[in-house]
Amino acid sequence: MRLGMGLVGPGFIAAHHLDAVRRLGDVEVVGIAGSSFESAKKRARELNAGQAYASYRELLADPAVHVVHNTTPNHLHREVSLASLRAGKHVISDKPLAATMQEARELYEAARDANLAHVVTFNYRGYPLVQQARAMIAKGEIGKSVFVHGCYLQDWLTDERAYTWRLDPKLGGASSALGDIGSHWCDLAEHVTGARIVAVLADLHTVVPVREAPDASAKAFAGAAATAGKPRRITSEDLASVLLRFGNGARGCVTVGQVLPGHKNDLRLEVNGREGSVAWRQEQPNELWIGHHAKANTTLTRDPALLDPSARSYAHLPAGHPEAWADAFRNVISDAYAWVRQGAAPEAKPVALPTFADGYRNSLLVDAMLKSHAAGGVWQSIDDPFEPTRTTRKRG
Ligand SMILES: NC(=O)c1ccc[n+]([C@@H]2O[C@H](COP(=O)([O-])OP(=O)(O)OC[C@H]3O[C@@H](n4cnc5c(N)ncnc54)[C@H](O)[C@@H]3O)[C@@H](O)[C@H]2O)c1
Repeated sequence: MRLGMGLVGPGFIAAHHLDAVRRLGDVEVVGIAGSSFESAKKRARELNAGQAYASYRELLADPAVHVVHNTTPNHLHREVSLASLRAGKHVISDKPLAATMQEARELYEAARDANLAHVVTFNYRGYPLVQQARAMIAKGEIGKSVFVHGCYLQDWLTDERAYTWRLDPKLGGASSALGDIGSHWCDLAEHVTGARIVAVLADLHTVVPVREAPDASAKAFAGAAATAGKPRRITSEDLASVLLRFGNGARGCVTVGQVLPGHKNDLRLEVNGREGSVAWRQEQPNELWIGHHAKANTTLTRDPALLDPSARSYAHLPAGHPEAWADAFRNVISDAYAWVRQGAAPEAKPVALPTFADGYRNSLLVDAMLKSHAAGGVWQSIDDPFEPTRTTRKRG
């Protein structure tokens, strides 16, 4: 059966959802809904994205749409995803799952009870060498993990004239940098290690407390606005350092910032075990550093022939042909549609696919970081409201 997809929120990331879906080859782009009928028509033309709907409710009423991609700003995630589930549509939501932890729980519970696929695009899971690192750790190749550390650093908000809806707590949520990109790092750290973060101690900071904001929110990564607008006071963090404790006893730390000149999409994750280490950098995604104590370190370059079977199906080109962000994104979308085609049965979920359960869990982490900082920088524990995904299918 040919599946139909509809997209709500046709901005920056939407184009990449559409690209990923088109590359699957067996999904029809039915149409899109935007903030107005006019904007939907304009974007449908620009993105060659089927028909324009007057509102997301009109899109949900179309029986040709089986899967809804929710790429709206964070404050609309709850409303659009919940309405989609109630309309019987599978949902692929971009991250964070919702603007607050309470909303994320509501969405997780609705999805759990709906017998529909529910996916959050923590797309960094889709890299082959991320899956390789996960497989190596799961097989004990680096021994017991003791230290998990890294960063997610960007610079697109460095200029005080740069502004985005992410900085407005009413639109982006109480957290800015942590919710926006720290969420990706935490998901990746937990996914790769297979361990849960159980406590955090966070120090948050707003490096740029006043921005000359234009009336319209800048597109992500668009840099400074050409014309400065009125001064806006910024209350959410653009820089954060967080100490971490994992359920398996490992310690960790992560730094996150969006005002750090020179860093574009600098996500790094390193896991040190008792018998070895692995490190991966998003900006050099075709290399996995493998560290040793008593023999030479090595670098594994992405080569399907050398990858663990569980990681191999995430690599599509022979060795030496670089694969990158869009390919990893497509892998996650491919897993999502594979799950839809399996009737979204829990036991059919591809093991690497992030769900609303992961999105809810992730929101608990960001919430705990905000609480830790607000309390003056104290350890804040995170209760796990559910078992780790129990019913999973191996892929590849
Ligand atoms: N996975 C990733 O790596 C990644 C990267 C960027 C953004 N994101 C996430 O994607 C989401 C969108 O981010 P973006 O950078 O594309 O933002 P954006 O501002 O570029 O796009 C948001 C779109 O939603 C539309 N919109 C606003 N109100 C609407 C409504 N009522 N109905 C329908 N559409 C409406 C806007 O007009 C705009 O087209 C955010 O949640 C963000 O966190 C994820």
